[in-house]
Amino acid sequence: MQQAQARVAVIGAGPSGLYAAAALLASGAPVSVEVLDRLPAPYGLVRYGVAPDHVKMKSVIRVLQKPFDPADVEFLGGVRVGDGGIPLDELRKYFSAIVYATGSTVDRALGIPGEELAGSIGSGAFVSWYCGHPDRTELRPVLDHPGVAVVGAGNVALDVARVLAKTADEMAATDVPGPVLDVLRDSAVTDIHVLVRRGPEHVKFTPAELRQIGELGNADVVVHDDGLLAQGVEESEDKRQKQNIDMLTEWAGVAPTGKPRRIHLRFLRSPVRVLGAEGRVSGLVVERNAVGEDGRLRGTGEEETLDVGLVVRAIGYAAEPVPGLPFDERSGTVPNVAGRVMRDGEQVPGAYVTGWIKRGPSGVIGTNKADATETVACLLEDLPGLPAPEHPEPDALRAALAAHGIRPVDWTAWLRLDAEEIRRGGLRGAERVKVAEMAEMLDHAHGVPAS
Ligand SMILES: Cc1cc2nc3c(=O)[nH]c(=O)nc-3n(C[C@H](O)[C@H](O)[C@H](O)COP(=O)(O)OP(=O)(O)OC[C@H]3O[C@@H](n4cnc5c(N)ncnc54)[C@H](O)[C@@H]3O)c2cc1C
Ligand SMILES: NC(=O)c1ccc[n+]([C@@H]2O[C@H](COP(=O)([O-])OP(=O)(O)OC[C@H]3O[C@@H](n4cnc5c(N)ncnc54)[C@H](OP(=O)(O)O)[C@@H]3O)[C@@H](O)[C@H]2O)c1
Repeated sequence: MQQAQARVAVIGAGPSGLYAAAALLASGAPVSVEVLDRLPAPYGLVRYGVAPDHVKMKSVIRVLQKPFDPADVEFLGGVRVGDGGIPLDELRKYFSAIVYATGSTVDRALGIPGEELAGSIGSGAFVSWYCGHPDRTELRPVLDHPGVAVVGAGNVALDVARVLAKTADEMAATDVPGPVLDVLRDSAVTDIHVLVRRGPEHVKFTPAELRQIGELGNADVVVHDDGLLAQGVEESEDKRQKQNIDMLTEWAGVAPTGKPRRIHLRFLRSPVRVLGAEGRVSGLVVERNAVGEDGRLRGTGEEETLDVGLVVRAIGYAAEPVPGLPFDERSGTVPNVAGRVMRDGEQVPGAYVTGWIKRGPSGVIGTNKADATETVACLLEDLPGLPAPEHPEPDALRAALAAHGIRPVDWTAWLRLDAEEIRRGGLRGAERVKVAEMAEMLDHAHGVPAS
């Protein structure tokens, strides 16, 4: 006897959700798959996180879009699950299983005085703004001061520093929206201070990303390491760390060449107070750290003030709880075993997670493939025992969405918006220029002619 088709929803069209959809499809199991995203555009952080000048990286989109091209998988963009969208309890009535792939892009706080001042921004917000995320079009950071501090020693800190260091002409060749380019064109920034709380051997940069800041035409890299690198840093077995140390040691021995901008890498420095004047950032007090014999970091009490008008925290992310699912505040993830959602040690029937909401905010795009494969394997194993949906008929979900005032952006509609962005790109000599305003995105998607 042929097994009835199970209906699976994937919530989140970022890499983890799309790898999960592809894995479900490739399994040949009797499942139909729908991918829901709160935004009218797919691809999650590939579109709204990966730096605009990382054009090659974005080509992963060609792989991620495959399940939609032959219309094997349905895309329902502009559908938020939870508050302000369709409640999870209601959504469950239409599916046998739901895979949550909602990511984690809430900015973590430093917890220091002055952090709330205008001009003190999390990287989530800052990156979303320059990537044209519809939630952040209003951010428009003020770049009228020569100094900027970027806190953190991960790849996101490098992305932010590089975008601020490049010329507006270099950024015009990317997909940044017009209003973002205008702000970058007017930028008075000359000195970008990257604050690394530990030593050169502890950075989380990947060598390829670190190398890029050394190759900038518009900016010198200046290493402030208090002579640590010249003394010789402990040899690492880790190949990536060794490459980083070699690069940093070489740069530490070279004087700036007089390029218009500088990226300062300041090691063993932690921000302790954001200074303000007239309600906005006017400086940042940093404390020098030392690593104790036990390997632990401690402040020395020695302080210095950086003259900056903007502070961007790139210290990692947290996730928003998914209403209706258990949540571990400490790790910022939904408790799970290999992707099966667990509540009080029991599996929640039909609920699965993948990507950053499953394992926390780390890992590159490719990491999400193996992660999604693991989750999908669990789902397929559970398939025979999954609960049957209350409303299996295909049109019932659309009717429910309409009742909530939601008109989904399907794949054809997204392709209309995509075409408009490519058209705008052609006018600027870029592959695409993003449409960032939500109303405009929806108009283009639904084919509303411009008035
Ligand atoms: C700034 C930044 C730059 C990065 N650059 C790179 C890079 O250059 N190369 C690289 O390999 N990796 C990069 N990464 C890492 C990579 O982007 C992540 O590993 C990956 O995006 C995580 O995938 P995800 O699907 O779990 O989450 P996400 O990509 O965040 O996708 C989550 C999706 O869920 C949707 N969603 C959220 N809540 C809801 C809801 N309630 N209802 C419906 N939909 C919802 C969101 O709109 C989003 O589309 C970067 C990360 C960041 C933060
Ligand atoms: N091009 C790419 O491939 C690319 C680009 C962007 C992002 N990504 C990936 O996306 C993931 C997230 O990147 P990320 O940069 O957000 O995170 P990350 O790699 O975890 O780096 C976070 C950094 O913040 C520092 N930090 C944390 N709390 C701090 C505090 N209170 N004060 C000062 N510093 C603090 C950490 O220092 P400690 O180490 O001391 O804790 C660490 O250096 C990573 O896996 C990254 O590789 C990849």
